[in-house]
Formats: sequence, structure tokens, C-alpha cells
Amino acid sequence: MKRTIFNEYGGPDVLVQENYELPDIKDGQLVIEAFATSINPIDIKIRKGDLKFITGKKFPKIPGADFCGKVIQSKDKTYKEGDIVFGMLDVMKGGAYADNIILENKNCVLKPDHLNVYESAVVPVVGLTTYLALITHGNLQKNQKVFINGCTGGVGSFAVQLSKALGTEVTGTCSKKNIEFASQIGVDHIIDYNNSSIDVSTSFDIVFDTVGNLSASALKKLGNKNAKYATTGFSFRLIIQSFFSKAFRIINVKPIHALLTELKELIETNNINPIISKEYSMDDIKAAHKDFESGNNTGKSLIKIK
Ligand SMILES: NC(=O)c1ccc[n+]([C@@H]2O[C@H](COP(=O)([O-])OP(=O)(O)OC[C@H]3O[C@@H](n4cnc5c(N)ncnc54)[C@H](OP(=O)(O)O)[C@@H]3O)[C@@H](O)[C@H]2O)c1
Repeated sequence: MKRTIFNEYGGPDVLVQENYELPDIKDGQLVIEAFATSINPIDIKIRKGDLKFITGKKFPKIPGADFCGKVIQSKDKTYKEGDIVFGMLDVMKGGAYADNIILENKNCVLKPDHLNVYESAVVPVVGLTTYLALITHGNLQKNQKVFINGCTGGVGSFAVQLSKALGTEVTGTCSKKNIEFASQIGVDHIIDYNNSSIDVSTSFDIVFDTVGNLSASALKKLGNKNAKYATTGFSFRLIIQSFFSKAFRIINVKPIHALLTELKELIETNNINPIISKEYSMDDIKAAHKDFESGNNTGKSLIKIK
């Protein structure tokens, strides 16, 4: 069996492949043979050591949270050998850049019916993040007005797709090079964040900062009096704001079986097809990380394993 690991923090060159053997699984666990994973910014941040105060000094580390794979061993009551599941590992621990992965029930559900295994593999982290922001927190409803800061990245593009599928009007920010992409995925009003202020005249029902770079006061200027605000950002002021106001939520995505189930149903009911803009094999993982860090990301970057 093969997996990608790193034994020190650093640039893409610290990523190496190694052979490994899986330990025996315990009750409640299952093993999947993975078809694919995807790149999320957290994989890069952990590899670079930006979060070493959380991830510590124990090596090797295996990056990756997203997966889709076939169950090949099961000591879990819900899933049997042959089931095709998708889901996510704990983003801080990683482990998905591997051809075989040990999971627990909370990490996975059967993949959405209409998606292939590659489309399924790019969804979990961005899908659950969006679900927590727009559905759990935002209670998104038809005809509402949604503002999405960073509408063309992994989280942003999925948030646009979900918002449009639910019949809302979407305003989104992106850089000039991505305006056409934003228009293709259905953003109704596009703001080039380098060339125009995001002080807009509309007041939004839901404001989702997928980039996480807007302050609490900048977010607040965009919402109406009943607005809900969600951000992937993390700052002292945002923590205070979310502590004192139920309208504010800092998103912290985790593998939760019930939420994955709801996400899968929502994707199926609304026929959502995630956007894969780039594809790599695990042998190209260094180039894939380099590319991702160059910042030209629209939609999702897929890593094929099988
Ligand atoms: N807290 C959580 O649970 C959680 C979960 C998932 C993700 N995240 C975080 O959320 C962020 C986004 O994740 P992702 O997967 O969507 O990353 P991504 O695919 O790399 O997308 C990032 C997006 O940010 C846009 N962007 C960059 N600077 C911007 C600016 N100043 N204003 C508006 N947009 C800007 C980029 O668009 P342009 O190329 O057009 O600039 C790009 O579309 C990352 O920091 C990630 O770590 C947090």
C-alpha cells in the first residue's frame, strides 16, 4: 500500500511517498480502498507548519481530509464490503493521501447517487463547511439574498451552487480573472474585490465570508436587520462577535455522520455537481501543491488515487 507523507514542515518538496501496512481494525471501524481525495487549503497550511501549535512535532504526517472509496473491510454495522462511501477525516489529523484508509462511521456515508467517485471525493470539506454556514446557521430560504465573499474557490463555488439550487439571489466577490467563471456558475451580481468597494446598496439575508478576511464590522455592513453571518476566518474580534451575537458563526468543519447524511441528501435532491477544475495523480502531488499555492484556484483540485 502507498501513501503520501511528510517528515518535516516545509514546501511541497517535503511530500514523499512511502509503502505502509494497515494495522488490524477495531470494532466500529472500516477500511476503504480510496479512489480519490482533494486539496484543501488546510492541507497546505499544515504541511507548511502554519498550524504547528496544534499539529505538533510528531511525524510522519499524512495530509488530506476528503475521500471517496470502496469499503473493503468492515467491523461497523452500517457499512458492508463493496459499499462506495464518501466523507472526511479530521482536518487537523489528515490521513486521506493514501490508497487505503481506516475510518469510523462518523466519517462517511454512501456517496451521492448521481455523482461519480471523483466528483464525490471533492465535496466533503467544502460541502460540510457550506452546509454549516448556509443551512445549519443561515437557514437559507428561497428568494433570499446571499452575499458570498470569495465565490469562485472550493467553498465559494459550492456555496454558489447550493444557493442557486435553492432559488436565492447571489452576489459574490472574486478577482478579475475569475469573473467569467463566477458568471458561468450562476453568480447574479459579481464584484471584483480589487477594483470596487464591497459596500453595496443591497442588504443581504445571509453573508458568508468563505475567504475569512472580512472583519466583523465589514460583515455587519452587508447584512439586513435579521441577517445571519458566517465566516471561515478566525480572529479575536470575530470570536467576541460570535460569542455575543447569535447571528454570527465561525465555521469549524468536522466529520459528523448526521450532517454528512443531510449534505448527501441535499446534493441529490438539488442535483448539485461539484466543479473539478484540475486533476492530478498522487505521483504529481508536489506539483499539485505548488499549483494550488500559486492561488489560481477555481472550484476544486482532485487527486486521483485509483
Ligand atoms: N473554518 C473551517 O471549518 C474551514 C473549512 C473550509 C475552509 N476553510 C478556509 O476557508 C478558506 C477558503 O477555502 P477554499 O477551500 O474555498 O480555498 P480556495 O479553493 O483556495 O479558494 C480561495 C478563494 O479565495 C478567493 N480570494 C482570495 N483573496 C480574496 C479576497 N481578498 N477577497 C475575496 N476573495 C478572495 C480566491 O479567489 P480569487 O482567485 O479570485 O482571488 C479563491 O476563490 C481557506 O482559508 C480555508 O482554510 C475553513
